Amino acid sequence: MTTPTQFLFRETGQADSGAGGQASAAVMDAGSAIHVRGLTKHYDSGFRALHDVNLDIRHGEIFALLGPNGAGKTTLISIICGLVNASEGTVLVDGHDIQRDFRAARQRLGLVPQELATDAFAKVHASVSYSRGLFGKPRNPAKVEQVLRDLSLWDKRDERLMSLSGGMKRRLMIAKALVHEPRILFLDEPTAGVDVELRRDMWNLVQRLKEDGTTIILTTHYIEEAEEMADRVGVINQGQIKLVEETRELMRQLGRKQLTLHLETPLAQVPETLSAYGLTLGDDGHELIYTYDGQGDRDSIPALLQALDAHGIHFRDLHTQQSSLEEIFVSLVRDGHR
Ligand SMILES: Nc1ncnc2c1ncn2[C@@H]1O[C@H](COP(=O)(O)OP(=O)(O)O)[C@@H](O)[C@H]1O
Ligand SMILES: [Mg+2]
Repeated sequence: MTTPTQFLFRETGQADSGAGGQASAAVMDAGSAIHVRGLTKHYDSGFRALHDVNLDIRHGEIFALLGPNGAGKTTLISIICGLVNASEGTVLVDGHDIQRDFRAARQRLGLVPQELATDAFAKVHASVSYSRGLFGKPRNPAKVEQVLRDLSLWDKRDERLMSLSGGMKRRLMIAKALVHEPRILFLDEPTAGVDVELRRDMWNLVQRLKEDGTTIILTTHYIEEAEEMADRVGVINQGQIKLVEETRELMRQLGRKQLTLHLETPLAQVPETLSAYGLTLGDDGHELIYTYDGQGDRDSIPALLQALDAHGIHFRDLHTQQSSLEEIFVSLVRDGHR
């Protein structure tokens, strides 16, 4: 039973003969949906794709794993899903060790892989139905129909996979990942290269799954999506987890806001008495720029505007700007670069 499952989902180019994980000093954390300790991966080439990764994914959350190309996202997901062997470390899925208790672990997981691998001659309905069987779930035509309808594939149910468009193939991969009703779903770059409609459908689906209590782990290059959707984000770079944080908290801590005032009369320098605000001048003295943190300093703006008025500094226009998760992410990855 485990073998065809592995073959079904194994990505080409990722077959390897790693040493297998050792259940060393792992602390059992039954409270996590996914519990990763000391995970290291050396590919056969000798390349170290993951280095001592520790990560806990909570039940029912949407977790976004962010990182540049080659960071190790797909490797991490592939190890958790049992498609690639770890060199060292432990993974528990809902408390089940992926080595010793593979079937129990795998049954809880659904994976929409980054690479679309499908059997060109299979038909849509049969292919999805077969995926359910692979996990030892009893036949359930109503469930298969519901999943196909949810993904707008019902009308295509008798078509061969080779006749599907790229977007339809991606829907099919999602249907195959969902049909055995996994409690934990991995989406590896689900929206890369898909059209706007499919992206929207995908996010609606993710929200519905979350409402049903499904834990969702996704990787994405569209950081604004993570910002909007994810409860927590993890940043991975060069095989190491750099940070795990509540999305909102990350925005609060690292998000900076900037207020730019376009002055009526340019200033040669910022008056000494305003030094507490840390103001800078831009555009040859035509702009006065105030940088403050997203939450805490909001009250300081009325005081600043009053102080400027008292100094006879008048502005004709203003705008504010907020650093996005994208900028935060870029700076983390840049700072983390060796
Ligand atoms: N089968 C493999 N053999 C050797 N190196 C690999 C293999 N698969 C991935 N890698 C390398 O491991 C690193 C991480 O890859 P991957 O996990 O796919 O990153 P990501 O999904 O974050 O883009 C990359 O440098 C990649 O080239
Ligand atoms: Mg990848």
